[in-house]
Amino acid sequence: MNPELPPAISLSDQPEKYRRLLLAWFDGNKRQLPWRGRRTLYGTWISEMMLQQTTVKVVIPYWEKFLTAFPDVKTLAAADLAEVLSLWSGLGFYRRARQLHEAARIVVDQMDGELPREVEGWSALPGIGPYASGAVASIGLGLRVPALDANARRVFSRWLIDDPNSLADLKPAHLDQVAAHLVDDERPGDWNEAVMELGALVCRAADPRCSTCPVRPLCRAHLAGVVDRVPPAKTVSSSIKVRLGLLVIQWRDQVFLLPPASGPVVIPPDSNPPVREDISGLHGGLWGLPSTSWLPPSGKSTSGWPGHIWRSWMTGHPDLEYSDVEEDPVLLGSFRHAITRYRLMVYVYRLRLAEARTHGCENAVDVSKPQFQSGEFAKSIPPVLNSMRAGFLSIPSPNHPISNLVAKSLRLAANSSV
Ligand code: ADE
Repeated sequence: MNPELPPAISLSDQPEKYRRLLLAWFDGNKRQLPWRGRRTLYGTWISEMMLQQTTVKVVIPYWEKFLTAFPDVKTLAAADLAEVLSLWSGLGFYRRARQLHEAARIVVDQMDGELPREVEGWSALPGIGPYASGAVASIGLGLRVPALDANARRVFSRWLIDDPNSLADLKPAHLDQVAAHLVDDERPGDWNEAVMELGALVCRAADPRCSTCPVRPLCRAHLAGVVDRVPPAKTVSSSIKVRLGLLVIQWRDQVFLLPPASGPVVIPPDSNPPVREDISGLHGGLWGLPSTSWLPPSGKSTSGWPGHIWRSWMTGHPDLEYSDVEEDPVLLGSFRHAITRYRLMVYVYRLRLAEARTHGCENAVDVSKPQFQSGEFAKSIPPVLNSMRAGFLSIPSPNHPISNLVAKSLRLAANSSV
């Protein structure tokens, strides 16, 4: 081992050096973010839930809109889940949005509307794991607890790697212990944010900017010249490839959407067994497009399915009557999309209808009637939505939240010249 390295940190080391260097850097370099400028416990909770999904840049407009629509826990608890999902639409992992809504209802119904004031109270709420409880408690309440997200884990692994020669990662339990020990006594929230900020801006996974790092003199991976190999790259063995088709049925500026949990509507002929039978958990609460099952990739990676795979479903669907029976949907194109560990190849089909009609329910909407053709169709949507029936809907609207996957398909259809 390199004799020049500072000693591996242990619980007997002095954490002050790390704190002094990093907090001074944070004070001069932190990003101006809306939830930092308008710091509240509630706003911190929402920002941390969103930041677990994606990058700061993506989260900013979502957080602003969310706080405008639901400025406090009471308005969030009183909202319809569909409204919440709609404002979450595009962030992905919708279970987190459902849990956020459920947690708000618990706070209002069982805790007099008062957000918890200690870590344990946060940990007991749905959707709050060790990271989120630590982040909210330290940043929102000033409690001295660690918050280890992926950025923070990488930063600590580099600073404190036990043996740079073997490139062995610090054991998670050791990392947790050291992270807890390092938290600044006076500024726990700033400390946690500073570690994450350093990970996002300087101590990046790819292309780390060590020359601008304030903690460089104390970083064992830097001093040993192994930063870009710490932590060791994980083997990406767990991703699962999936092929599926989605159907955009358009009538004027309306799109035919299916209510939540409709599931796949078509299993293309001659297909292998689906990769995943039940996809409702991934998109629970969201409106969807008619879909094929999630199938393994085909040998011919560029091919979709023939357009007539949708035909038997279309002719049999009780909410859909269409006059273009001669037409089969056409394949517009494809795109890649990732959902948890699934790597999807999505084929988008489109059928344009000259005339369309929904029928078969009390609130039936005959879209072929003249008033609907003069733009009044949207006014008749709520009854259809209330009864959770499929229908032609204009998008996007808070009344029918859609997933990122569906939004991408609609964008592809909107931009298609086919
Ligand atoms: N990533 C997640 N939460 C963060 C925060 N509060 N500051 C910086 N990066 C973060």
